[in-house]
Amino acid sequence: MILALETSCDETAAAVLDGGRVLSSVVSSQAALHERYGGVVPEIASRRHLELVGPVVREALEEAGVRLDGVERVAVTQGPGLVGALLVGLSAAKAIAWAARLPLVPVDHLEGHVASLYVEPDPLEPPFLCLLASGGHTLLLAVRERGSSERLGTTLDDAAGEAFDKGARLLGLGYPGGAEIDRLAQEGDPRAFAFPVARVPGLDFSFSGLKTALLYAVRDLGEEETARRRADLAASYQDAIVRALAGRAREAAERTGLETIAVVGGVAANSALRAALPDARFAPLSLCTDNAAMIASAARFTPAVPCPGYLSLDAYASLS
Ligand code: KG4
Ligand code: ZN
Repeated sequence: MILALETSCDETAAAVLDGGRVLSSVVSSQAALHERYGGVVPEIASRRHLELVGPVVREALEEAGVRLDGVERVAVTQGPGLVGALLVGLSAAKAIAWAARLPLVPVDHLEGHVASLYVEPDPLEPPFLCLLASGGHTLLLAVRERGSSERLGTTLDDAAGEAFDKGARLLGLGYPGGAEIDRLAQEGDPRAFAFPVARVPGLDFSFSGLKTALLYAVRDLGEEETARRRADLAASYQDAIVRALAGRAREAAERTGLETIAVVGGVAANSALRAALPDARFAPLSLCTDNAAMIASAARFTPAVPCPGYLSLDAYASLS
């Protein structure tokens, strides 16, 4: 029985897992709080986590019908993410674990995303090629056993989710914009505009040129015409991101000989990406964007630190 906390960005989340079974997964999103700034403001996020972490943990335990004395391990995201935000979750997890004299499992956020594939009712067995596409990262990973992965490629500039969010901003949509582009694109023509897919060597990605191409297209069309053709712009822009992600994932699978492609992270919720990789395994929709169930899932395959050795653990901001 694992209680997990996740506060790496702007979602305050707690979950209880019994083995691979999700008993509860509570996510309190701060998106509305950050929307007026067009992105996450780190200090505001930390303060909000501080207010929410207690109630969210309580709700997760209640929903699961589990009391703290029924919990065997506490898990928490240690990094990467916003360091102030991470520290709120880490401190809360330390306090809960210490109060109940439980071991603590520090979890890497990215391993957490991969572990969203390991929950019931249809857990995935390695080996597989994993495309991790979120607001902060775009990675291709070879996963040969649970709990570890080999990095094959990454983005040289923006993450895929970041490209969606920046594109949405250029089109005058809300934040975060991935889901809005997804929705709007269903009414548009993906071949209306020819946006380029950057060709970078190896298995890496690059999305900053694409964002610039959209910026120029919007500028050339002017305000009125952009508004009229917003759905076509969204569909074409999304198509370019999806082509890059799906193409590279297939290439990586071929090169490594890994037959199964799996997709995790916020962008795994994208319907065009799901359509472009019909044979791939996608994380359950509710576990694509940040949540604590995936952190608890990863904790099953990560060594625990016994009490009280974890009290000196620190958060880390960037990719190890
Ligand atoms: O995994 P996540 O919650 O946060 C990070 O760890 O970064 O991913 C959030 C990202 C945002 O950039 C958001 O725009 C994107 O996932 N996203 C989507 C969709 N839903 C969320 N992008 C494309 N299509 C979607 N349906
Ligand atoms: Zn994430």
